[in-house]
Amino acid sequence: MSHIVSPSVLSCDFANIQRDVEMINNSTADWFHVDVMDGVFVPNISFGFPVVEAIKKHATKPLDVHLMIVNPDQYVEQFKKAGADLLTVHYEACTHLHRTIQVIKANGMKAGVALNPHTPINVLSDVIQELDLVLIMSVNPGFGGQKFIPNAINKVKQLKQLIQEKNANTIIEIDGGVNLETGKQLLEAGADALVAGSFVFNATNPTQTIADLKNL
Ligand code: DX5
Ligand code: ZN
Repeated sequence: MSHIVSPSVLSCDFANIQRDVEMINNSTADWFHVDVMDGVFVPNISFGFPVVEAIKKHATKPLDVHLMIVNPDQYVEQFKKAGADLLTVHYEACTHLHRTIQVIKANGMKAGVALNPHTPINVLSDVIQELDLVLIMSVNPGFGGQKFIPNAINKVKQLKQLIQEKNANTIIEIDGGVNLETGKQLLEAGADALVAGSFVFNATNPTQTIADLKNL
């Protein structure tokens, strides 16, 4: 199976959200990456339920929702209602991570866990078999357009090894500073899914840029 490309709508033109959603619908992208920020877990506020619902209304591909919020448990059901297909919470925001994962699955979504750049892979060794996806942050979460942190490549290799050791069936997704160069290195290291925001939406031809990422 070829890798997954998940364009981040954080970098789209919110005044033309339907147009940008249609662009992704008509591209070779696999998912929509939807970044929710609360101004507490990260030093930025993006958008909440009304925008997720608006995207869902037009999207013909799964919504890959990345929660950068504290107390994500409180909102799992509402994100399901808003249209999330895959819900990713941050390891650093969950005291009872195992329970949170179970709640996401019980609500009929795939469950993901994101790791900040400073968080080692081995903290997931006792839950990896429960996870549909692990999101390795290759920038500090909060903003699009930041510089890629190269240590993410080592983390992909370590995570790949952990998944194999535990015989798990977990997708490795990377988020932050992904372009054709970093994307290629990440795929070689074992990544399964690439998120790209500014690289896609700042391109002269976003559809072609998505195709270029897909063809890596
Ligand atoms: C950052 C978000 C990312 C962001 C990536 O906190 O989680 O999904 O949109 O943006 P780029 O691809 O521009 O680094
Ligand atoms: Zn994200």
